[in-house]
This record gives sequence, C-alpha cells and structure tokens, in this order.
Amino acid sequence: MNIAVVGHVDHGKSTVVGRLLADTGTLPQGKLDQVRAACERNARPFEYAFLIDALKEEQGQGITIEAARVFFKTARRPYIIIDAPGHLEFLRNMVTGAARAEAALLVVDAQEGMQGNTRRHGSLLPLLGVRHIAILINKIDLVDRDPATIHALESELRAYLARNGATVDACIPVSGRDGDNLITPSAKTPWYHGPTLVQFLDALEAEPAPTAQPFRMPVQGIYKFTANGDARRIVAGEVTGGSLRVGDPVVFYPSGKRSRVRSVECFNAPQRDETSAGDATGFTLTEQIYVSRGEVACRVDEPAPAIAVRLRASIFWLGATPLLRGRSYRLKIGTTSVRMFLESIERRVDADDLETPEAFDGVKRHEVAECVLRLDRPIAVDPLLPIAAGRRFVIVDAWEIRGGGIVREVLPDAHSDVRTQVLVRNTKWEPSSIASDQRSARLGQQPALVLITGPRAADRKALARALESRLFDAGRLVYFLGIGNLLYGVDADLERTGAHRLEHLRRLGEVAHIMLDAGVILIVTAAEITDEELDLIRNAVDNGRLHTTWLGEPMATAPATDLQLEADRPVEEHLGEILGLLCDRGVVPTA
Ligand code: GTP
Ligand code: MG
Repeated sequence: MNIAVVGHVDHGKSTVVGRLLADTGTLPQGKLDQVRAACERNARPFEYAFLIDALKEEQGQGITIEAARVFFKTARRPYIIIDAPGHLEFLRNMVTGAARAEAALLVVDAQEGMQGNTRRHGSLLPLLGVRHIAILINKIDLVDRDPATIHALESELRAYLARNGATVDACIPVSGRDGDNLITPSAKTPWYHGPTLVQFLDALEAEPAPTAQPFRMPVQGIYKFTANGDARRIVAGEVTGGSLRVGDPVVFYPSGKRSRVRSVECFNAPQRDETSAGDATGFTLTEQIYVSRGEVACRVDEPAPAIAVRLRASIFWLGATPLLRGRSYRLKIGTTSVRMFLESIERRVDADDLETPEAFDGVKRHEVAECVLRLDRPIAVDPLLPIAAGRRFVIVDAWEIRGGGIVREVLPDAHSDVRTQVLVRNTKWEPSSIASDQRSARLGQQPALVLITGPRAADRKALARALESRLFDAGRLVYFLGIGNLLYGVDADLERTGAHRLEHLRRLGEVAHIMLDAGVILIVTAAEITDEELDLIRNAVDNGRLHTTWLGEPMATAPATDLQLEADRPVEEHLGEILGLLCDRGVVPTA
C-alpha cells in the first residue's frame, strides 16, 4: 500500500517516517546504532530523520531503492512511504497516474500550526485522487500535549481541508521524536481515543485485486485466423480487470455490440477456458460482429462502464505551449485515441510553488488543473472502478505527450439521448449470419461512409458523383445517396427547417449504418457540417468507417476533417486525394 507524506518544511515528515521504521522493526540489523554512533562522532544530536538519509544511500539493500520511497512493514502488511510530495516529479506522477497513493498523511507542527505548504498540499490532495487522508499533529511534546491547543488546530485544519473538498479520516496527535501514538497509544495523551498511526494505516481497506473487478479488456486489435479459410477473428488485448470464460456473453463499449465468447486464445500458451486480469490474451466470438481497436470488452452480467464525451479530469500539463481552448488535441486512454477539446478550467495550481497562478484561459506548463474536457466521439471510461487503465489518460499534441491525467467524473452532454438510443439499437441488432469479413472478402472492399462537406458555394455533388463513377468502374459496390432521397421519404414527417437538421442527420446516420452493414461504400454530401452535427453521425456509424472531406474555403465552424480540398482545383486531383485516403485506410485495394 502506497502512502504519501505531505506537509510544511521541518514539520517532521522524515522524523515520523524514520521513527516508524525504527519502531516497527523494519530497519536492517544494527542500522539504528550505526546512525547513532555516526551522530556521536560528528557531535550532532541524533535525529530519526537521518535514518531516511542513511537508507537512501543503501541502493539495492531492499529497504530503500529509490530516492523518495521508503518501505516498511507492520504485522498486517507492507507499506511504501512516498516522502517528496512538494516536488514537481511527485505531482506529475500522481496526476498522470504513474504513481498512486491510497492515503496521504498531512504532517503539521503543533507549535507552528498551519503554514504555506500545509495549505498548498492540503488543497492539492483532492486533485490527486487520494482516497484517505489523515492529519498528523506532530511535535505535541512542544505544546506539552495540551488537548485544547491540539483540538483548536485540528478544527482549523479540518475546516480548511473541507473547504477544498477533502474529507479527513483521522486526526492523530503524535510526536515523531518521542514516538507518541505512532504504534501504540501514548500514555501521555489519555484524552485521545482515536487510532494510532499504524492502527489507522492497517485499518485502510486495500483495493480489491483487479481480478475481483468487473471484466475489462481494451481492444488492442482484431486478428484473423488464416489457416484453411477459417473466418474466425481473435479480439486481442490486455485484460485490465476481472475474468472471462468461454460461453460468457460479452458487450463492447462504447458501441454496445454484443456477442458470446466462443474460445479463449492465448499466445504461445496452452489452451484455456478462462482469462483474467493481467493476461495479454484474446478470444473469439460466436457471432462475427464488427468491433474495432479502442472499444472496451466487458461482460453483459457485470456493471457497465460509463460512456462519455464530456469529462471532469485532473490534468498535469507538460507542454511548452499551454493547453488552450479552441484547439484540438488527442486524448489517449486504454487503446482509444479521440480528438479532445478543453471546454473549461475549474482550478489551476502551479506545481512549482503550489500557488494559484494569475488568471489565464489555459493551462500552462507544470500546472495541475481540474478541467472539463470534451471529446468528439464517445469513449468508455471507469471513473469509479479502481482499475487505473479505465481512468488514466495522456494528452497528445503534435505527436508528443504534452499532459496526463485522471478522469474524475463523467458529465452529461447534448447527445446523451441519441447515444443511448444507438446503444439500444446495437444491443437489439440482429447480426447477419454472413460475417462482415466474408462480405468484405467477396466485395473486395471495406464498408465506408464517405462524407463530403464544405461551404454552400462548393460543388460537392459533382465531386460525389465523380467519385461514385470512379469506384463503380473499378468494380466497387458504391452508392451516392442524395440528401433529397431521404428528405421526402425517411424524413417525410419532418419539416425542412433548421430546427430539424439534427434529426435529419441522425436519420442519415442510421440509414448509413444499415448500408454499411450491407457492405456498401456510401457517399453522402451535406453543406457546412459542424462539429456537433458530425458527432451525431459518428455516434451512429462504426468507429473507423467514416471518412470526411471538406471541400472549399475553410470556415470557423468547420469540424476537423480527414481531408481539406481547395474548391478551384481540377476534380481529378480531388478524386486522387480521396482515393488515396480510402486506399491508405484499407477501404479499397491499392490501385
Ligand atoms: P523537510 O524534509 O525539510 O521538509 O522536513 P521534515 O518535515 O522532513 O522535518 P524533519 O523530520 O527533518 O524534522 C525537522 C525538525 O523537527 C528536526 O530537527 C526534528 O528533530 C524536529 N522534530 C520532528 N519531529 C519532532 C517532534 O515530534 N518533536 C520535536 N520536539 N521535534 C521534532
Ligand atoms: Mg524530510
């Protein structure tokens, strides 16, 4: 169990930890005497804090390996104490999830009371996602263990942490120097009835093992059996939680598609019927549904992850250019990568000095922030499960990791209803008995929705028709769906006003979904599609099957598209670009 120790300079963090090591008998044989003797030789008073330094020097001794980490053991279990919390590195590791602490101990000098770092660390704790917090009022010997003084400080500290959204599990009066209330209750504080430090730590519930969690496997890829015309595909990935057996009903999120496990496949290992957390594994399905990298495989009979396009998150920013609103980034979580926008910033803290920086509409380098992020496509996340892979993400800008963070909460968004409806549709969908693979093999193409959008002035239809002809001549099953074909049929009950535009597009998405299931390359055009409208279509169509082109002058409201084409170039050039994209993505074979 990882425990972080935080607090103001000289309030006694190292002393408390050193004393804990000494009194729990975790120190190597003779260490204490050795440090005492060294102090005597140098005519310095002995300090328990020196033990920490002495241990740090003993690389590879198995006690302290890394600079800021100390190991100790109680009768119940081993602990790792992290004692460098004010530092950039620590904050970055905590926020990005490289390090994790189950509990934090805020050490406060009973005589000095609240100081700068007490406040700063205290206000940061809730951002780090630490589950348990204890206040250690240290150096009680310096205030004669006076309950009134100690209680007054306790009230002040509790109130401060509560204002910052942190709940305090215990407030323990201790003396690092004398050992009060560290292991056994101190006879000198008869008025204190709470736990000692070790009692507090030992009472913490360890997080359940990942195998005791619901099954989760972010899909890494889909691999084919190649021998003897076998049409089965292996859904492969690393199991991050729970377990899965042959015959289990599985559901993939965010799509909501369902099937059943036919076989569990392990690489270079004997055949098994079950796979569980920690395995790099794969399984085949009884029905050949289309799933793609980035979906999360779950069990139908277990709690589902949340599906979200808006998230509240704690992030740590590393990029030299700040994280800004109005720019797009990529958020990577599990095996998913989605386009991401910063919607709003709720709180920023400078990780260097832990101060609240001056107002700025972005997150600067080395700042920790609580913010709202918006994604352009729903993802499956698990903010509430202790499975780290379901919550931790990195933010990528220009191919480099510029930040990292933890999803803290899923927020509602405008399209939640539509997404729920798509989820239900996928749940109820009757999979064809012809696997999509077989269909693709016969047709020599992958289904695709090719969307051409742009300013009204540009001639999208001409390009769409030219593309249809070209693909048809090349032997492809392709169809250009004119919007008019929907307006007076599928959409006959809708007025043709702007108010219904979203519903028109939702229906377009549903029609496209059916045609893609039939294996078709579908071409559609729509004027001046916005981000929000594109999201609606993305919700309806399988991930990876939508290919977008913007034809004409860029517009401020334009969504990010796969291609941006200038209107006044020859159609032949435009065709070349679109066909190139379709080849690159494996929709059509290379010419
Ligand atoms: P930094 O690592 O520099 O932030 O300090 P720290 O919080 O680790 O404090 P450290 O343990 O080094 O203790 C600072 C001073 O306070 C030392 O001189 C300790 O001897 C003294 N000290 C620590 N705990 C106690 C205590 O319980 N009683 C008394 N009287 N002094 C203490
Ligand atoms: Mg220290």
